[in-house]
Amino acid sequence: MSVAIRIVAPIAGVLIVLALALVPAVNFLTEQWFAGEVELRTELIERSLASPIGVLLSRDDRAGIAALLDSLARSEADNLRGLAFCAADGTALQAAGLPFAPCQDGPRFEITTQDGGPRFLMARFPITDGDGITLGRLVVVHDLDFVEQRSTDVVIYALIALIIVGGAVAVAALFLMRLALRRWARAMRESLAVAPSPATNPAVSPPAPSLPELGPLARDIQDMLRALDESRAGNEIRLTWTPETLRQILAQELPDADVIVVSNREPYIHNRTDDGGISLQIPASGLVAALEPITRACAGTWVAHGSGSADRDVVDAQDRVPVPPADPAYTLRRVWLSEEEQDGYYYGMANEGLWPLCHLAYVRPVFRQDDWNHYVAVNTRFAEAVVAEAKSLRPIVLVQDYHFALLPRLIRQRLPEATIITFWHIPWPNHETFGICPWRAEILDGLLGSTILAFHTQFHCNNFLDGVDHYLESRIDREHATITVGGLATAIRPYPISIEWPPAALAGQPPVAECRDTVRARHGIGPEVRLGVGVERFDFTKGIVDRFRAVGRLMELQPEWRGRFSFLQAAAPTRSKLPAYRQLEAEARAVAEEINERFGTADWQPIILVPRHHEPDEVMTLFRAADLCVVSSLHDGMNLVAKEFIAARDDGEGVLILSTFAGASRELLEALIINPYDTDSMAETLAQALRMPVEEQRERMRLMRDMVRDNNVYRWAGRMLLDAARLRKHSRIDAGNLQFETERRHGA
Ligand code: G6P
Repeated sequence: MSVAIRIVAPIAGVLIVLALALVPAVNFLTEQWFAGEVELRTELIERSLASPIGVLLSRDDRAGIAALLDSLARSEADNLRGLAFCAADGTALQAAGLPFAPCQDGPRFEITTQDGGPRFLMARFPITDGDGITLGRLVVVHDLDFVEQRSTDVVIYALIALIIVGGAVAVAALFLMRLALRRWARAMRESLAVAPSPATNPAVSPPAPSLPELGPLARDIQDMLRALDESRAGNEIRLTWTPETLRQILAQELPDADVIVVSNREPYIHNRTDDGGISLQIPASGLVAALEPITRACAGTWVAHGSGSADRDVVDAQDRVPVPPADPAYTLRRVWLSEEEQDGYYYGMANEGLWPLCHLAYVRPVFRQDDWNHYVAVNTRFAEAVVAEAKSLRPIVLVQDYHFALLPRLIRQRLPEATIITFWHIPWPNHETFGICPWRAEILDGLLGSTILAFHTQFHCNNFLDGVDHYLESRIDREHATITVGGLATAIRPYPISIEWPPAALAGQPPVAECRDTVRARHGIGPEVRLGVGVERFDFTKGIVDRFRAVGRLMELQPEWRGRFSFLQAAAPTRSKLPAYRQLEAEARAVAEEINERFGTADWQPIILVPRHHEPDEVMTLFRAADLCVVSSLHDGMNLVAKEFIAARDDGEGVLILSTFAGASRELLEALIINPYDTDSMAETLAQALRMPVEEQRERMRLMRDMVRDNNVYRWAGRMLLDAARLRKHSRIDAGNLQFETERRHGA
């Protein structure tokens, strides 16, 4: 509503109320006024007639009285209805025009009507002789109709006057209000324009505005602006997490941080080539992408297993190599493992024991004492490497994953003041499942050497708390999600991991249409065939066989998709030394073949299985070429493939089909969520994705892209670092208090 309407509307309202009250009041007043006037006039008539009538009566000249009345009635024609003389004997001498008997008794003045007709004023005057003897009564009757007409005229004039006055008041009010607003705005602008930015100088209070009455308002606005400024600054950090943000956090919050990352897989692998040279391999790992910026930013150290065939050839005497080789920013410290150690620690305990234990994929975990011994020995070796690399007694150590469950405690024993953040990249099972592990207490205790123990989801944090509750002597504070063992508290926190935004591999990508042509040409897919993709390591947790069966079921239930839809699976062989992985690969190949034989034709295959490693830019091209992407994990901590597909689709199209058992389904709410164990429903979801209108795809994709962009991997790392910084400050305060308390006691 405009300001003008807001001013005019109430004035108009007041005018209407006034007018409604005015009409009856004006009617009443004008009637009273005119009746009074008519009464005066009748009294004049009476005075002029009283003595002539007296004379004529003394002569008993009734005809004379009638003539007198008649002539007066004619000369006083204006509203005079008639005159009558009622003699003492009751006879009436009446002028024409009185349609009723005038001689009844009544008050001196009476307003009355006859038979509901027009109103008139009847006046009765006694006529007396010189001795005061009543000779008769003069009756004067006046019409009052004209009074009504006059009062209507008065009401109309009054209303016109009201409208004119009201209009003038509205115009004046508008004018004055605009004038006042302009003055207020100018004063406010002056006051706010010279106010110092709270960000630049929070100590200086802003000046008062030139209009004193604006003081409180100006202060309120300044406060609000400050709050807005602060929240915007916060949002900017939240919305634009970059490697630079991480650098800033480290510089501001952890200025003296000595950061050490520990993972099994190294960020740079040197391999011997066939021609005797050395090649550099960067593993396509979300973990590496997430931790590289932190390590670079603080010129830290990364401790990892040296698995490359030429790794030993490039390190110095302390097994260190500066990386990235082209532009060194931090140190990679390699730890060497014998074949036997790798078999026991990596293949055995980590991947045959803990991996199937933590993933509910119905592959039985294998626990061997020998593997456990290697696991303990390798964790100890890494702990010693961390101590050797620490430049201070309080390093920040970022321990990665299920290969190092014992490492936090082993580091804590050697560096009690270290800040240890452990991230468990895979799910944590419920306590019954976890309880089958023969070394459950050792694993829990090992992890509780951490300052912060992090999982992807709150659900996994809760499972961990329950496990500790069942299998370890400890104090659990569920409200603050901390567990205390031997006086050391560990915070159990969820930090959902993510990807870099935008992914580096997206940089050189051609437009989506070109990606489609490339992939179709490479795999012999016709232009009329819609394309679904899956990109995984060949792991039994990923539900690869299950999605193949869903594609087969789709062809069976909805034959119209035969020849019109193909599913391309990129599957990188992994941990192939282990029987469970070899079996999965064989089963996946067999199921794909069976479905292709059943439904495929000479120029069309429902399933295209590409069992090899794909470089990141190849994966991007596949994602961009696809109509849909299937992530059908049977169980997954997060699953970054889902987020990478979203990041790849800068055209805003494509459908993500995502397992409810992947942590990513807690964040990517606009994906089509599936249960990979329900083949028919997965087949139906494939059809739903293929039929989804482009507008719906765009809407879902837009929301998911916003989510991944805002919650990228830099935010994941940054939030953990900020929490670590806070806990470090707390522990400093606690240490200070302890020292103060000790000194006080000694002093006392
Ligand atoms: C999982 C783990 C990661 C690991 C990846 C590859 O996703 O959580 O830490 O990097 O598997 O496993 P690999 O055994 O090949 O290092």
